[in-house]
Amino acid sequence: MDALEAMHTRVSAPRLMDPVPTPDVLKNIFKAALRAPDHLVLRPWRFLLVSGVGRERLGEIFAAAAQSDDTDITAGQLQRERIKPLRAPLIVIAVAVIRAHSEVPEIEQLISTGATVNNMMLSAHSQGIGAMWRTGVMAYHPVVKAGLGLAGHEKIVGFLYLGHIQGRVKEVPELIVSEFFKEWPQKS
Ligand SMILES: Cc1cc2nc3c(=O)[nH]c(=O)nc-3n(C[C@H](O)[C@H](O)[C@H](O)COP(=O)(O)O)c2cc1C
Repeated sequence: MDALEAMHTRVSAPRLMDPVPTPDVLKNIFKAALRAPDHLVLRPWRFLLVSGVGRERLGEIFAAAAQSDDTDITAGQLQRERIKPLRAPLIVIAVAVIRAHSEVPEIEQLISTGATVNNMMLSAHSQGIGAMWRTGVMAYHPVVKAGLGLAGHEKIVGFLYLGHIQGRVKEVPELIVSEFFKEWPQKS
């Protein structure tokens, strides 16, 4: 699949299954991340790879975070948090490593980290691997950040779930380009 086709056809895949993509496929995905646009080449990102029993550890952290928000949380709700990371064989946690910079504000460092995630999704799709970018309250929760060992200046930009696609690939309507792209100033 060439780059244009990958960009024109990518869709998210919420249902992902084993096995973890092969090392060669993963390397292509990770290399794509590292070509994200990056103002003044700060490399304001790092990535945590969570697979196997690491996913269970992550699920325990999610459950602890949820419990810290609600001491009356039910056993069922806690279990739902625990199993969230089991939705794919591999999760790449994209972390923005924010540093104070006179020319590159925090938002640009976050955007650059977001671009790494999109690059990974496109590389995954072009290799037949499914991906789903997730965040939710867990991405911003202090218990999760501490449990993963993040420093105060680091932020989770996404949990990128990766794996083999289970079921049918969803069909999406093609958007009308002219509704989103308009000449400015408008021609009278
Ligand atoms: C920053 C970000 C966070 C997201 N977080 C979630 C999430 O937590 N749960 C979810 O179901 N979708 C989430 N999404 C949306 C999906 O990843 C997906 O893009 C959306 O369902 C549209 O599907 P498509 O990518 O196939 O067009 C998020 C997307 C972005 C960009």
